[in-house]
Amino acid sequence: MASETAQGSFWMPPEASTFAGDVDALFDFIYWLNVFFFVAITGAVVYFAIKYRRKSDDQLATSQVGHNTLIEAAWTFIPLLIVIAIFVWGFRVFLNQSVAPDGAYEVKVTAKAYLWQYTYPNGAVTGELFVPEDTPVKLVMSSEDLLHSFFVPDFRVKSDVVPGRYTTVWFEAPDPGEHVVFCTEYCGAGHSGMMSKVIVLPKDEFQERLEKDFIDGDIPPAEMGAKLYTSAGCSACHSINGTRLVGPSWKGLFGTERKFADGSTAKVDENYLRESILQPMNKVVEGYPPSMPSYQGQLKDVQIDALIAYIKTLK
Ligand code: CUA
Repeated sequence: MASETAQGSFWMPPEASTFAGDVDALFDFIYWLNVFFFVAITGAVVYFAIKYRRKSDDQLATSQVGHNTLIEAAWTFIPLLIVIAIFVWGFRVFLNQSVAPDGAYEVKVTAKAYLWQYTYPNGAVTGELFVPEDTPVKLVMSSEDLLHSFFVPDFRVKSDVVPGRYTTVWFEAPDPGEHVVFCTEYCGAGHSGMMSKVIVLPKDEFQERLEKDFIDGDIPPAEMGAKLYTSAGCSACHSINGTRLVGPSWKGLFGTERKFADGSTAKVDENYLRESILQPMNKVVEGYPPSMPSYQGQLKDVQIDALIAYIKTLK
């Protein structure tokens, strides 16, 4: 963070990823090339306008001068070489940015109006993206509703996030720090507020927090539960609209009385739901097959809380 480039420049935010410098170098090259030609061409126009101006009222225009093959070839081929060089250079930087290195740490990014959610390999879900420093991170992104675009200016990383398909970006952040994430595709009334952060942590701190508390307080529990309903696979067997699937629907479930296969009954409360998630065989609802897998060790307490909060909303 203390490096010089962390300050950014007049045009550019800080360079906080390994390839940010490559992007900026190409930008600077094109920028200064433009400055050079702007000065050279404008300068020549002004110079010629003065030098060849009409010097008296009765001066006649001179006839057109014939063409100069050498000069014309030069102003054709030199710019051609320059734009080819820019293309090759830009394409290399682009490919570098497009293809994540093998073994990159993978995080699933979900966009929806108007928030970002990050799902880690262990199932943790956060509203801010936590990543380890000095590690290539690959983001596999999709949208739940409409077109969004994931943009981290400090990393020079940007990609559309589209419903029904995956797009990917990757980056490697050499230093711990915080970087803003924008949605950079107009997606509706909340677009300008659709922001998040990338928080780069030292490797061991990342590992520690991943295992302990990587569930973000930013997301209301019921909303996290709604997300888990599909991401944890609940939706395969439990409907939320009353439809009978493999298991009982969640609609209007909370607070009702259940009858179980062994003849016993219980009221659906927090503890019943928790037990059903962790030890589903303890109380199998009458009329349904005992086919639910245990989620012991797969869902953290806060995620179970979130699912319960979600079920409560399904009146
Ligand atoms: Cu999402 Cu703009």
